[in-house]
Amino acid sequence: MAADKTKILDTLSKLLKQKNIDKIRAIIQDVKVDVEKLSSNESEIQDKVSNGKFIKVKSKYLLGELDQILDTRTIERTKYYIQRLVRALTETKTDKINDLNLHRWKEYDDILTDSLWILGKRDTSGAHSGGYWGNFIPQIPNQLLRRYTKKGEWVLDAFLGSGTTLIESKRLGRNGVGVELLRKVANSAAKAIEREDDLSSSRTEIIVGDSSNLDFKTEFRQRKIQSVQFLIMHPPYWDIVKFSKDKRDLSNAKSINEFLDLFGKIVDATYPVLDKGRYFAVVIGDKYSDGNWIPLGFYTMQEVLKRGYFLKSIIIKNFDETKGKRNQKELWRYRALVGGFYIFKHEYIFLFKKS
Ligand SMILES: C[S@@+](CC[C@H](N)C(=O)[O-])C[C@H]1O[C@@H](n2cnc3c(N)ncnc32)[C@H](O)[C@@H]1O
Repeated sequence: MAADKTKILDTLSKLLKQKNIDKIRAIIQDVKVDVEKLSSNESEIQDKVSNGKFIKVKSKYLLGELDQILDTRTIERTKYYIQRLVRALTETKTDKINDLNLHRWKEYDDILTDSLWILGKRDTSGAHSGGYWGNFIPQIPNQLLRRYTKKGEWVLDAFLGSGTTLIESKRLGRNGVGVELLRKVANSAAKAIEREDDLSSSRTEIIVGDSSNLDFKTEFRQRKIQSVQFLIMHPPYWDIVKFSKDKRDLSNAKSINEFLDLFGKIVDATYPVLDKGRYFAVVIGDKYSDGNWIPLGFYTMQEVLKRGYFLKSIIIKNFDETKGKRNQKELWRYRALVGGFYIFKHEYIFLFKKS
């Protein structure tokens, strides 16, 4: 809904000249009443700077800012908050690695900043579907891409699977390149990505191949991709889910050392194509073997740290029962009690930065 609110900015600007705090408060109250009338979560405010253009502002955010102005006691503080709101409505301040307007950071209340992610139901909108055994939920790439990339930048997923990352990249106006060992899986990912609406003419490239043995520079050159600005890997959790019989498939590694060796090769192979100062995320969980907990997550983290990346965060993300265990919840609980172990309900997102 387009709010006829050119006057909000005019009013706020005029208030900066006002010397009487009670008068300011009364006028802010009036503005609040106006904003409260907006039923939509998103309103539009005339952007003075870009002359005639409209910027989208959430009315919830605006109300919060107006309340903060009303809550202050001194005229200096009141004016400081008014000034800050005027700036938030007219100027954009972005980081080098994303498009978030830091002047209006309070608007991004759906962007996670804590290291514990309790994500709700899988996003099944658009081309997303939960059909591929071993895929991750789209909210993971969604969160990461919005924080660590800008529109028009390139994202590389070295374990494409059903294409979740690339669907999300397309949706967010990022270009995506993905590598998948299995042609059939790659083809169906390509079809799914194709189904997603193309709102911003972003590019998608799929390479069928073995990420541990791929000359990324050459592959990129052939596709006229210079480099990527974000790298994501969601490898098999060793042999928990077998994706194929191909011995290059990480889920067929004969030992943990072979698994880590192949994973390390992929970290090496992708290193040259990620821009310096940009981020790399590894999504992985642990596993049990012969009743013992194998900390796959921390082992893979070490492989990355050996290779010149800095660790920026370890995020713990919840997950629901896997499809296999969903119908046997009680049985697994009984087994856990008898066997003295805990049932996995979390996985990791390790975030690294290239120095
Ligand atoms: C955990 S799944 C990734 C799922 C993906 N994130 C999604 O949401 O669909 C891992 C994928 O890596 C693929 N894979 C295994 N070894 C590979 C290798 N050496 N090179 C490329 N892809 C590989 C598997 O075929 C599987 O599709």
